[in-house]
Amino acid sequence: MNRQDDFAMLQRQENGAPLAYLDSASTSQKPTVVLEAMRAFYQKSNANVHRGNYQLAEEATEAYEGARKTIADALKVPSSTIIFTKSTTDGLNLVAQSFALSEVQPGDEILLTVAEHHANLLPWQRVAQQKGARLRFVDLNANGEIDWAAFEKKLNQKTKLVAFAHVSNVLGSVAPVKALTRLAHAYGATVVVDGAQAIGHFPVDLKDLDVDFYAFSGHKALGPTGIGVLYGKSALLEEMAPVQLGGEMIETVTKTSATFAKSPFKFEAGTPNIAGAIGLARAMTYLEEIGLSQIEKEEQGLLSYALKELAKLPEIVIYGPLSAARRSGLIAFNVRGVHPHDVGTILDMDGLTLRAGQHCAQPLMTALGVSSTLRLSFSVYSQKEEIDRLILSLKRVLEVFS
Ligand SMILES: Cc1ncc(COP(=O)(O)O)c(C=O)c1O
Repeated sequence: MNRQDDFAMLQRQENGAPLAYLDSASTSQKPTVVLEAMRAFYQKSNANVHRGNYQLAEEATEAYEGARKTIADALKVPSSTIIFTKSTTDGLNLVAQSFALSEVQPGDEILLTVAEHHANLLPWQRVAQQKGARLRFVDLNANGEIDWAAFEKKLNQKTKLVAFAHVSNVLGSVAPVKALTRLAHAYGATVVVDGAQAIGHFPVDLKDLDVDFYAFSGHKALGPTGIGVLYGKSALLEEMAPVQLGGEMIETVTKTSATFAKSPFKFEAGTPNIAGAIGLARAMTYLEEIGLSQIEKEEQGLLSYALKELAKLPEIVIYGPLSAARRSGLIAFNVRGVHPHDVGTILDMDGLTLRAGQHCAQPLMTALGVSSTLRLSFSVYSQKEEIDRLILSLKRVLEVFS
């Protein structure tokens, strides 16, 4: 059976052509098993979690906590370190507000790269502004990768926090997370990794990477929107004060004070996205059933084919590493002399959905000297034929604009 059959959305036609969904870095499509898991929860087990002591409420709590365990096991960390959030954005903001605002002091430094998504930039800008800290940026090398020497040069005893993406959402380059983390730790810095473009594309073992915080979104990894995960090391989470206060995150409450539950519960005030967590856990299981190493291998094949075919068109400019082995999941490019939005419109007419824009990375666009790019991105359902269709369509673009 074709894996595309697992995704009802992919049966859709787009402008009279079969949909070639090539924007999975924005959000992935969802397999039917994920939709079914969420529907089954609402139809058969729906009740609030962590409160009622009737059978149904216990069943709902078991499903929700079971989802946490599935995700924790997939990432090789304990359940208590997995906090359900809304998204990557939500998780990074939580670290900024709950951890960094109390840890970072005037004169301290926060080290980022110029390639960060705004979600991994603006929260640190706010911390730096509020605490009188200094933001510093690592430049990327000509290949669009984090320059090791440049990274190490920017580290010093004042570096309190280092934040970077596991996979750049524009350049596709994969950061050497373990090595960078070891370097940052040698200077006593806390390491925050934005895993939005990594989860669902290759195996991620958070224990081995030894990062302090890791955030990702369910919707980019075959799960639903509105659910994400923030991992944090136990010792850090225990010290952190929750940002949101309310029901279900407390130990005791008096009229004038409260003590909080342990992690992860103290960070999940109010009724959580129960069906979302269940859907995300099912997505993780689906990915594991295929095998993340297998997914990585297949994506490598697609990337190297796409890079090779794009390079045959001299008008195409590719951003990021030219070798597939140094990339994951996506390729940003431009057609010389044609605005990416115009290219995107013609591709859409042929049933190809590619994002054209700044990709929420304006400082990187400035560094690349462009206002925007197109971006081709893959997931487990992507096919070689879709790349062939893209190349044909790009040739049509070149004819129209010649
Ligand atoms: C690298 C990266 N970080 C963060 C985000 C933000 O993800 P979300 O909008 O799901 O919070 C994205 C989404 O495009 C991303 O690609």
